[in-house]
This record gives sequence, structure tokens and C-alpha cells, in this order.
Amino acid sequence: MIAVAPGRVNLIGDHTDYSGGLVCPMAIDLATTVTFEPGGERVELTSDVEALPASVALDVADPAAVVPAWARYVAGVVAVLRPRRGGRGTVRTTLPVGAGLSSSAALEVAVALALGADDADPVTLARACQRAEHLASGVPCGIMDQLVIAGAVEGHALMIDCTTLDRTPIPIPEGVDVVVVDSGARRALTTSAYATRHAEVAEAESLLGRALRSVTLAEVAGLPPGAVRRRARHVVTENGRVALFAAALAAGDVAAAGAAMTESHASLRDDFEVSTPGLDALVQRLVATPGVWGARLTGAGFGGCVVALVEPGATPGLGWTVRPAGPAHRR
Ligand code: GLA
Repeated sequence: MIAVAPGRVNLIGDHTDYSGGLVCPMAIDLATTVTFEPGGERVELTSDVEALPASVALDVADPAAVVPAWARYVAGVVAVLRPRRGGRGTVRTTLPVGAGLSSSAALEVAVALALGADDADPVTLARACQRAEHLASGVPCGIMDQLVIAGAVEGHALMIDCTTLDRTPIPIPEGVDVVVVDSGARRALTTSAYATRHAEVAEAESLLGRALRSVTLAEVAGLPPGAVRRRARHVVTENGRVALFAAALAAGDVAAAGAAMTESHASLRDDFEVSTPGLDALVQRLVATPGVWGARLTGAGFGGCVVALVEPGATPGLGWTVRPAGPAHRR
């Protein structure tokens, strides 16, 4: 059996998913493929990008303690799904690992499908894989990555309301390319910094007594000055930008959509403080290039990739074009 799960690039809406906000990611035409033969007491996988294989017992107790490190994601899925049978197989991927294109979520979803998870219910599949990620990495990630991978619509980005988990497909207009540029910096700080940001957002919500999703900018301005207020301001303004972006793109107003992306980058840099000089320089270079409508860091930050909306051919030699792909599936 073969299970395939795409990676994703987030067009806009970062660090909003874990407070029930809006995001607009897109599954991409780079993917992780698990070829699997069920049977036996363990889940045994080799990988074309990892030196050592994963061998996970069906009753694995602590996925975070499993070695090698990539096997933790396999173990996380096993711990959540508790399949009755193991199996043997191979993992192949065309995704750059650790670059902010959700290679870990793609691995989780592909392994879950290989182990027999229901592919007809994207929300249940995504929740299981989000939980697997928590167990494997200790990072308190939101649901964006797993849900767009499980529920993507080909040719479209997917606006997700992370409170209701409602999904709205947003067509990528003809004549618009989504370009990804890898900064080359791997996201070493992500685990601790992500947890810190997560805690700051939770603190803003507890000071305000409400979910940030339903808070106004005027209310945010009433928070004590400092990091927590700036984090909240990013989340509230970012939710607004996602809605604006999706409406603009659906209406074919690519200039307005691109401007929202570039503003999102400034907010992630100044208020949420998850950018790096390398990411800032890439965004600056892109937005100064004729034919580029907008650019921003994508994903958690602290390295990884930048995403841009561009006229086809506008950025020769810089990054690569990704196409909007369909959801993870078995075949
Ligand atoms: C990572 C997490 C997501 C999301 C982004 C930031 O990709 O896995 O849940 O929080 O960071 O938007």
C-alpha cells in the first residue's frame, strides 16, 4: 500500500492557529510517500533522507525518547492510533526537511494513512497527527499544517477558521505563481521559542479574559506595554489580514493580497519577533523585484522559507515555484 502526503506553504496567517484564528495555507507539489506492507509487531521504516531506520513497538510509551529523532514522528502516530498490526516499509520525500514546509506533518499524515487511519475525515486525521506531533516533539503546535495536508483542495489555498475548523478553498488565480525561497537556515530555536510565543499568547488571553479571536485592537491597546501586548497585536491584526487576503485573492485583486502578505511579514518581524536578518533580507529583495506582489516568512519563523506571490518568471534564479496540490491519500 502507498500513502502520499503533501507538504504545505502558509500564504498568510502565522502564529494564529493555536489561538483559534485564521490561516491560509496551501498544500504543495512536494510530498512524502510511504510504501507499506502491513504485518508484525513493530512499525519498521527506512527513509531515503535519513541514515538510520525507524523501528517502533506498537506499545511505545514515550515517543519523544525514541531514536533516531525522525522516528519520533512515527512513534507519535503509533502512540495516538495504537494500530493492532505493525508493518514494514519505506519513506521517500521530495520535501526539504526542517525548512518550514511541514515535512514532519507530512510524515505523520502519510504514516497515519499507511497504518489505516480514515482518509475520509480530514479533521479527525489532522487532530490525531497534531497530537502525534505534540508527543513526538513537545512543540505545542496548532492544527494548521496537519489539517491543510489532510484536507487540501487541488488548485486552491485553504482558509481555515481554527475555532470552527471550517475550511474555505481559495482559488489561486491564473497568472499568479507562488514562489518559495529557502533561507538555508534550519530552525534550531523553534522548539523553545515556539513554546514561549505560545505561552505569551495564552497570557494575553488570560489577561483579557477572552480568546484573541474575539478581541479588538482597542482592547489589545489596554494591555500593559511590552512583549505580551505586541504578541496579541500581531495575532489580532494577522487574523484581519488573512480575511482580507482571502477576499482579495478570490476577487482577483492580487496586489491587495500581496500587500497583506508583506504587512504580515512586518508584523511577524516587529510584533511577534520570529523573523531573522536572513529572512528579512530575502523579503526585502523580493518586494523590491518588479512583478512581485508580496512576500513574507512562512511557518514558525527563526529560519526556514519565505513565500512570495509573483508574476510567472519574475524571480529568475530565486527560489522555486510550488503548485497547489490536493490532499494526502492512499493509493
Ligand atoms: C508551525 C506549527 C503550526 C503553526 C505555525 C505558525 O508550522 O506547526 O501549527 O503554529 O508554526 O503559524
